[in-house]
Amino acid sequence: MWSPRPELAAALAAAERWLDGVGSRPVPAAEDIDALTARFAGPLPADGRDPAEVVRTLASAVEPGLLAIGSPRFFGWVMGGTLPAALAADWLVSAWDQNAGMRDATPGVVAVEDAAARWVLDALGLPSSAGVGFVTGATMANFTALAAARDALLAGMGWDQAALGLAGAPRIRVLAGTERHSSVDMALRYLGLGAPELVGVDDQGRMDAAGLRRALDAGDAPTIVCTQAGNVHSGAFDPFTEIVDAARAHAAWVHVDGAFGLWAAAVPGLTDLTHGMDGADSWATDAHKTLNTPYDSGIAIVADPGAMSRAFGHSAAYLLHSEVPDPHEKVPELSRRARGVPVWAALAALGRDGLTGLVQGLVDAAQMLARGLGGLPGVDVLNEVVYTQVVIAIVDDATTERVLELLLVEGLVRPSGSSWRGRSVIRFSVSNHDTDAEAVAQTVGAVAQALDATRRHLA
Ligand SMILES: Cc1ncc(COP(=O)(O)O)c(C=O)c1O
Repeated sequence: MWSPRPELAAALAAAERWLDGVGSRPVPAAEDIDALTARFAGPLPADGRDPAEVVRTLASAVEPGLLAIGSPRFFGWVMGGTLPAALAADWLVSAWDQNAGMRDATPGVVAVEDAAARWVLDALGLPSSAGVGFVTGATMANFTALAAARDALLAGMGWDQAALGLAGAPRIRVLAGTERHSSVDMALRYLGLGAPELVGVDDQGRMDAAGLRRALDAGDAPTIVCTQAGNVHSGAFDPFTEIVDAARAHAAWVHVDGAFGLWAAAVPGLTDLTHGMDGADSWATDAHKTLNTPYDSGIAIVADPGAMSRAFGHSAAYLLHSEVPDPHEKVPELSRRARGVPVWAALAALGRDGLTGLVQGLVDAAQMLARGLGGLPGVDVLNEVVYTQVVIAIVDDATTERVLELLLVEGLVRPSGSSWRGRSVIRFSVSNHDTDAEAVAQTVGAVAQALDATRRHLA
């Protein structure tokens, strides 16, 4: 195909080839990291090459090393698929090459991000006046929101962190459930807050509200309570109403890590999970998980937008300043791509009903998967499947690990392994809008086959 921009035509052809095959090819990469590294081992060439040839060479060299995350039978970690409108909008973001930090400099993309922010708050039932920052992922969203929390609590103690730093600052306590995500610890570490004090959880990993009350009563330092909407194993949600009530009595800041679970708030039938979550002070989520935008797309939300600008506002004579906070005053980056644009495109393509349908569809598929897997001999579904995660164990650790190994080698489906509550487990995270009844049936069939083969092997 002739094109005035042959490199874009080459990229489009490679993308279509990949997207057309992603649902039917084996899920794992065909080649491993050593083979791929060897392919790219050459020195920086002295002479440049034709851009279209560079793109064609790149695509054909990388394809054997691509993991089919977009497959409806991909269930690893918590990684979402991609909605078509979000993907195409993401390409435009690159083509436009806008630096989205200053609203008066790049008003087109900033206006879209402002609209995306409004829609996200509306869809999730969060305060319409909250500040919203577009970051790379939930790790950075946790960091961003917790930075706002830290500086607000210190300001409440008369300590200006921006001016004085942390050395000699009043102590801030951080409380979190024992099954918080590890990225929360990392965010706290970046922020100089150290490791959180741990609060016990129930058998699904939900924070014990009575334990939280006891922990709050036991100290008088300003406190951040890190809660979770969506446990990576069980998918469980912390009891927000009780937590927010307890935290209010101690003027503590409540943060919600809702990397994939925050989106449950868009589904009327799931309000039992998210009830009270809107009473928190800050929230972190990903669009690249449940909303199915391409990487990298995280969202930090803070009820008091002033707390965001206190943490991240800065200025320089050569920058533009608008009357309302600029996008760069809500996040740790000054320059960044307009990553809120694919969020807008995903929501525009779905509409409110489509968003509800997307999230409910993931939950329905997870519950169907749990029923199918739970019907196989020796398979225990260990979690209450209230959301998008299914955790199984099979007889004993050796059997579970062998079944996982066979599934990974066979390559039709891709769950991931873990250990939870003292057992080796196989985790299925249903995060792709394309996972339908057929993909679920194929997955149950693949596990049944791996189980038969394991039984024969162990017999
Ligand atoms: C609950 C939770 N929090 C935070 C994260 C980190 O998200 P990201 O990898 O997008 O930074 C994850 C990732 O799976 C998660 O499940």
